[in-house]
Amino acid sequence: MRKYLYPIFLIPFILLGCSAETDNKPISAVERIKEEKAIQPSVDGMKSALLSNGMLVPLGDVSIPVDNPMEQEVLELGRILFFDSRLSGNNEISCATCHDPEKGYGDDRPTFEKVDGDDGARNSPTIINSGYYSTYFWDGRASSLEEQALGPIQNPDEMDQSLDELLIELRAVKGYEDLFASAFEDGITENNIAKALAAFQRLIVVKDTPYDQFLNGDPEALTDQEVRGLNLFAGKAFCSTCHNGENLSDNQYYNIGINTDDVGRFAVTGDESDIGRIRTPSLYGITHTEPYMRDGSLATLEEVIDYYDRGGDGHPNTSFFMKQFMNPLGLTEEEKDDLLAFLEVLGGEPPVYTKPELP
Ligand code: HEC
Ligand code: HEC
Repeated sequence: MRKYLYPIFLIPFILLGCSAETDNKPISAVERIKEEKAIQPSVDGMKSALLSNGMLVPLGDVSIPVDNPMEQEVLELGRILFFDSRLSGNNEISCATCHDPEKGYGDDRPTFEKVDGDDGARNSPTIINSGYYSTYFWDGRASSLEEQALGPIQNPDEMDQSLDELLIELRAVKGYEDLFASAFEDGITENNIAKALAAFQRLIVVKDTPYDQFLNGDPEALTDQEVRGLNLFAGKAFCSTCHNGENLSDNQYYNIGINTDDVGRFAVTGDESDIGRIRTPSLYGITHTEPYMRDGSLATLEEVIDYYDRGGDGHPNTSFFMKQFMNPLGLTEEEKDDLLAFLEVLGGEPPVYTKPELP
């Protein structure tokens, strides 16, 4: 619940539009909060304030569903399936085609390449730390990695394979019968394909970064510049309004102003206020996963910072918070450098799984 305290605290100020007198000039509550956030204390002062900031939480272990424990046989099978292009209709596309371990588990493209060679609708998101989300896809239309896994296999633009056919194909491979039998009691089923893929993806984690070490009590884990960047992230730049808590995602949906016809969360809820809203992505592993945003429209982290600094690109349904507080942010060049230095800390070193021998 803690993460909700902050926005709730702001609401009375905004609704009442209360104003204060400073230098005989009336300023709005929004301006006052922005001015307070802009005050930069000493690095030591920042450190103690950051350590008591409830929005910032070090990342713990990924939670494992009781009905899909991380057993060695399941993980091995999951890794094999992840790299096996026989899961696709034309036998040419595997999960790793778009979630390539060498490319930060993305594909380095703005949007994915469809089976027919055209550009797909959305960016292939990284699957680093995807085990920590409570909803999946940019619009949150799946609610577990198990539920998510069968989506891309059947999607006509992605792997274009019917599950019935896939089961027939896999059962015809002698090696798969053995692999499934040793991992699961009931052998080759849709459910078990999903479970194995989900379990394997829970291994792909970036944690224990210097940011986590800092929050876990090592005051020297971050350089002074990185501390200033984190202070901006949680203060003047307002990033932790949405990128907060474990995994730096509040698992909520916002429209940050990207100019696109992609309706985002609206496709799931049918609620017009959800047009263009997207689930807040995690920022762990972020240095490995360019280009950014659901349409891949921002090529670098510098571009992302400039984007937020200018208050987004003015989509008509831009989230209230961005319009009120981040329009524009007014970061100096030095502050942008500091913020970038902090984001780079979150990159970490994701484990790079290579293609195993296929049955
Ligand atoms: C052709 C490219 C492509 C292939 C192949 C593909 N994906 Fe994806 N994947 C995407 C795209 C694009 C999205 C985002 C779709 C959306 O949000 O509408 C996505 C989303 C995901 C997500 C959600 C991540 C998040 O942050 O919510 C996971 C997990 C995932 N894919 C795993 C897989 C697995 C497992 C496979 C293989 C069975 C696979 N993908 C195959 C392109 C692909
Ligand atoms: C109002 C909530 C909100 C705020 C505030 C916010 N973000 Fe985001 N962030 C999002 C959402 C939602 C997305 C995905 C948007 C999309 O793809 O359309 C996103 C995307 C990103 C991405 C790209 C992630 C990826 O995998 O493509 C980065 C990097 C990022 N934000 C960093 C920041 C930084 C730095 C700040 C502060 C300057 C910030 N965000 C402030 C909600 C927010």
